[in-house]
Amino acid sequence: MEQEKVIEIKNLNVYYKNHKKSPLSRDKKKHVLKGIDLDVYEGEILGLAGESGCGKSTLAKAIVGMNKDITGEIIQKYSDSQMVFQDPYSSLNPSKKIGWLFEEPLRVDKKRKWTPKEMKERVKTVIKAIGLSENMLDRYPNQLSGGQRQRVSIGVALMRSPKVIIADEPVSALDVTIQAQILELLRSLNKNMGITILFISHDLRVIYQICDHVAVMRGGIIEEYGEPSSVYRNPQCDYTKELLNAAGIIKKNFNK
Ligand SMILES: Nc1ncnc2c1ncn2[C@@H]1O[C@H](COP(=O)(O)OP(=O)(O)OP(=O)(O)O)[C@@H](O)[C@H]1O
Ligand SMILES: [Mg+2]
Repeated sequence: MEQEKVIEIKNLNVYYKNHKKSPLSRDKKKHVLKGIDLDVYEGEILGLAGESGCGKSTLAKAIVGMNKDITGEIIQKYSDSQMVFQDPYSSLNPSKKIGWLFEEPLRVDKKRKWTPKEMKERVKTVIKAIGLSENMLDRYPNQLSGGQRQRVSIGVALMRSPKVIIADEPVSALDVTIQAQILELLRSLNKNMGITILFISHDLRVIYQICDHVAVMRGGIIEEYGEPSSVYRNPQCDYTKELLNAAGIIKKNFNK
């Protein structure tokens, strides 16, 4: 049986305003994503790789509706895809306690009204799922470690039980041990709760560890797509080869 698509992106173009002051570039828009076609399948972890500035975050934001100047189609099976942002330092409001941050998605839930008791229950469930203890709820974001903060970001994204999570470089700011723990958490959310994950990373090693498919992006275009084992063993594009080289990944490591 063919797997169902949870996100289907067809010929997506995204533009930003050009802020340059030069009269020549005035009013011209910057064309950042150039005709992206990409499918995300139910229950998978799809890795999106590519160099800084190629448009990975732009694609993520387009999916959750944060980029408005777009053409093409983004068809989504579920309406509530949640984003985990690249930088947990700036994405968590520093003036609010962790407990408040967890409850916020429920307070603004348009689908239903949550009673305070239900909110507390939901927070308890989520905090357990992400491996934090309840005494964290009284702290502020700056009183947590980077890894704990990233767990909180993931937890906040989980509050309304989304079917799809878009995680934008969720482990890039973390050291290797903590990285491994967060990857394990994401993998368990995928396996145990069936959450589909679009996992953005410039690190092809990390993508190999947890992704079912990988899309390699360059300059706003998807250059290569496939299962990591076959893409890494037999990359078709020079750019993918460059990335594999830069990551110190030797092809023979992936001959299984
Ligand atoms: N709000 C914005 N306004 C104008 N240009 C933007 C805006 N956001 C991003 N860009 C530009 O769009 C391009 C793609 O940016 P994007 O953040 O999607 O890259 P990225 O692949 O996520 O990079 P990184 O790996 O560094 O996070 C870059 O040239 C960037 O400068
Ligand atoms: Mg980015």
